[in-house]
Amino acid sequence: MNNFKFYNPTKIIFGAGAIKELAGEIPQNARVLITYGGGSVRKNGVLEEVYEALQGFETGEFGGIEPNPSYETLMRCVEKVRQDKFDFLLAVGGGSVIDGTKFIAAAVPYQAEAWEIVKTRACKVVNSLTFGTVLTLPASGSEMNCGSVISHRQLRAKLPFAHPSLFPRFSILDPTKTYSLPPRQIANGVIDAFVHITEQYLTYPVEGKPQDRFAEGLLLTLVEEGPRALAEPENYNVRANIMWCAALALNGLIGAGVPQDWATHMIGHEITALCGLDHAQTLAVVMPAMLKIRSREKKEKLLQYAERIWGIKTGSEDDRISGAIEKTKEYFAVMQAPTSLSAYNINGETITTIVGRLKDHGMTNLGERRNVTPEVAEMILRECL
Ligand code: NZQ
Ligand code: ZN
Repeated sequence: MNNFKFYNPTKIIFGAGAIKELAGEIPQNARVLITYGGGSVRKNGVLEEVYEALQGFETGEFGGIEPNPSYETLMRCVEKVRQDKFDFLLAVGGGSVIDGTKFIAAAVPYQAEAWEIVKTRACKVVNSLTFGTVLTLPASGSEMNCGSVISHRQLRAKLPFAHPSLFPRFSILDPTKTYSLPPRQIANGVIDAFVHITEQYLTYPVEGKPQDRFAEGLLLTLVEEGPRALAEPENYNVRANIMWCAALALNGLIGAGVPQDWATHMIGHEITALCGLDHAQTLAVVMPAMLKIRSREKKEKLLQYAERIWGIKTGSEDDRISGAIEKTKEYFAVMQAPTSLSAYNINGETITTIVGRLKDHGMTNLGERRNVTPEVAEMILRECL
């Protein structure tokens, strides 16, 4: 196991009716700005419930944070926070609203040009406004980590950054608030969480047994509960298991002390920025090809994955590995997510542009061994056609 430091200060308030506990988590005299997306929280009643819980507080709101939150939209909110002197932010929505709110929290006190925060991976962030979240879409894990992914529409870029001051002070996770999700977003959430786990698990062995067993438990839960969430959307236990899995998948625990890949994600971000696919849709396409092209270097963990997740214990090593990759593609298909670029009418020419953007964004040595070069990325993308 590698050396590591683990720090996660986010308080989680989990369960049906948890929004009622909101007032007790926010400083009494705070001026609270509620941030949200395109309006799903109005339709499903979550915003009304939040206002009820915040009676007595001075509140304001900023809506319109789009999926794949854009710098351009978020800067409008930064101006509003500065002008109206809000000092606490409350993100109500999915990963895009939470990520956008993290950027706002860091940008408000930031003296330089705020895109620098993203471009320099937040290394110049000093402090940020405090904020909490009410999660309505389990997927990104943003509710319990200090990471964020922001797009710049004009530059057609979508880049990640992280900073320890960007952990939510608290996150409220009420599984009943996910009942209004359409099937595509249920599937996106399950697949995003699944690939977060494999990015931290399907690498190479370092004898990290607790991390491996924990990751495998989360994967098995998602394999079991993902299809059930599509079939029984109001099954509380199914939605609760998925909600907690998504948070645990990217809160630092299973990634502590083990090698991490993230090449699938970095390539996926470029596909979203260029072609507009949902984040998780890009992962369902790229991940199986990533495993196939890099199966040699991932052999030991792929064989462990084949046995412990898919029950594949017999046959040659190659057969067991290709069997596990096939099972993974079948699982994504059951979750209604295509696993080819052609399913989205993306062709070979676009691949050249995607590879060019990887180079522009310095993504030239990806993966747990830093050996996923633009040439390897191109091979992987061609395997996805
Ligand atoms: O626009 P709103 O009204 O919010 O509607 C959203 C949006 O249209 C809707 N939705 C959310 N909760 C709902 C609902 N509709 C009905 N009922 C509900 N309860 O779903 C749509 C997608 O929402 P979004 O927040 O974009 O989805 P998700 O939570 O999957 O977040 C995706 C973003 O997370 C980033 C991705 O890059 C992407 O920008 N990620 C963040 C990470 C992190 N912070 O650690 C890591 C991840 O790998 C990921 O990159
Ligand atoms: Zn993700």
